[in-house]
Amino acid sequence: MQMITQMLATDLDGTFVGDEKHLKELLTYYEGLEKKVTLVYVTGRHRQSAIELMKEANIPVPSILISDVGTGIYIGKDLKPDEQWNLLMKKNWNPEAIKKIASNYPTIVQQKLPNESRISYTVQEDEASVKKFKQELLEANISHKFIFSSGRDIDILPENSGKGSALTYVIEKYVDDNASILIAGDSGNDEEMISLGYPSVIVANAQPELMDIQDHPQLFRATKNCAGGIHEAWLHFYNN
Ligand code: GLC
Ligand code: MG
Repeated sequence: MQMITQMLATDLDGTFVGDEKHLKELLTYYEGLEKKVTLVYVTGRHRQSAIELMKEANIPVPSILISDVGTGIYIGKDLKPDEQWNLLMKKNWNPEAIKKIASNYPTIVQQKLPNESRISYTVQEDEASVKKFKQELLEANISHKFIFSSGRDIDILPENSGKGSALTYVIEKYVDDNASILIAGDSGNDEEMISLGYPSVIVANAQPELMDIQDHPQLFRATKNCAGGIHEAWLHFYNN
């Protein structure tokens, strides 16, 4: 794969997808640019679910798909797994220990997923249990990353993974040093990649947990929702 020189790395639900009219405008704008903008999708969905969304929302297949909250990386139009990443990120991963602790919390229900590269849960209005669960995992000294999004989803990931770590790996391996980069998100699982220090945008419709994160000099807070906010930020940073 050729090194990427312009890249939009974007979350899907609530960021790239969610406002059809502005998404069309953004894609038309990118098509009109002289230099190609490479699409990298960075989603909480698993590979198959991301593919279904691409069909439903009629969006292009990306050059790189980062799936499962930054635990899967797939390359090229046929979305082949990056095996080197799989080996790197599995270090110290012990899903059984996590599941055992989770079983103490009846309101925290495990999501059905195609594999155990991450363990995710759904919780309905019980933040007290989420806090306790998080604390218990820390006290048990289990290597992991804990991510809570939209007041509903808990993702427990191998410590070397996550949207920020996976995107850093992709940037080092596939992106030119002088590339124009924009990173876009709308919820808690996007915080890690939005905070890397690259030009980034929080779309106007973002969840409160992302709105509340610390500013950095390259962080743009959009006034428009979803793809409208991405477009606004691209013009802000690159004005071309
Ligand atoms: C998506 C995924 C889900 C995950 C959530 C938050 O909704 O389908 O598995 O927990 O994102 O990252
Ligand atoms: Mg989202």
